[in-house]
Amino acid sequence: MEREFGKQGFPVPALGLGAGSLGDPALDETRVDALLNSALDMGITLIDSARSYALSEERIGRHIAHRRRQFILSTKVGYGIPGHADWTYGCILAGIDAALKRLRTDCLDIVHLHSCPLETLRQGDAILALHKARDQGKLRVAAYSGENEALHWAIESGQFGGVECSVNLFDQRCLEHFLPLAQERGIGVIAKRPLANAPWRFAQRPVGEYCEEYWSRWQAMEIAADDMDWQELALRFAAFAPAVCCAIVGTASPVHLLQNKIFADQGPLPATRFDSLRQSFRQHDDNWVGQI
Ligand SMILES: NC(=O)c1ccc[n+]([C@@H]2O[C@H](COP(=O)([O-])OP(=O)(O)OC[C@H]3O[C@@H](n4cnc5c(N)ncnc54)[C@H](OP(=O)(O)O)[C@@H]3O)[C@@H](O)[C@H]2O)c1
Repeated sequence: MEREFGKQGFPVPALGLGAGSLGDPALDETRVDALLNSALDMGITLIDSARSYALSEERIGRHIAHRRRQFILSTKVGYGIPGHADWTYGCILAGIDAALKRLRTDCLDIVHLHSCPLETLRQGDAILALHKARDQGKLRVAAYSGENEALHWAIESGQFGGVECSVNLFDQRCLEHFLPLAQERGIGVIAKRPLANAPWRFAQRPVGEYCEEYWSRWQAMEIAADDMDWQELALRFAAFAPAVCCAIVGTASPVHLLQNKIFADQGPLPATRFDSLRQSFRQHDDNWVGQI
């Protein structure tokens, strides 16, 4: 199941792979190889990485660069380049060159400024550098990954062809105004954290875990998964929310990868179910802003 990536001129799958956890040095290399290749075999053909995801970019390059034409490659830059201050013009350009090298490709499909603050966006150098690299043919879509005010600014600015933001059962604010605006402007949308990092794994508040805030919202919303697994409900909600082009689920598990593909293939939730989940979020929204 593919959809156009906004008006950027290429399709993307409803389900993509978030390769954050694949950067973990403790993961066995053979396992990462098998996971990446089976994702492509299953049609999970958008892979999302970032400079900060440890070995992730390097491993994507190592294990699937030979299949480069079969997938859309998304990554993120902005920091961590020796000799350059973060977010400067030089840092962005050097970050893109480093990503090309690590990912073993001559062109990246989507490159995001990775959660930079609004002031950095407004200052303009980071965007100029992204556009320069696009003009040089090193990337296809200049994109922004982030939330709230900065996300809104990025969408309104007309400088980006893609955005990546959190969209899930417990993070729905962007569905209200930001993403309809993105869609109207032909901006492709990637939904990150689509399973909300699976807070239902925890019986008690998971203090200090990435999903702690989502766990609280889950409790407050008082929703039920009823006839589905939570994973299925969450994935079908996020992947088929209006304006979302691709939902990138993070997994290092081959079993979960296959399950997610099966869930995504079920298509959108029934409209009444989707609407009641939207309603529940609106009712309980207690300054529930987008989570990075
Ligand atoms: N731009 C940014 O600032 C930013 C921030 C966060 C995330 N992201 C991107 O978004 C991607 C996804 O986000 P995320 O990984 O944080 O959150 P997520 O996709 O909502 O959740 C990932 C969690 O769900 C589990 N999971 C996945 N499939 C499952 C299944 N079928 N059954 C049960 N558990 C399942 C995973 O564990 P297992 O590994 O055990 O499957 C992992 O713990 C990241 O990899 C990254 O590419 C970007």
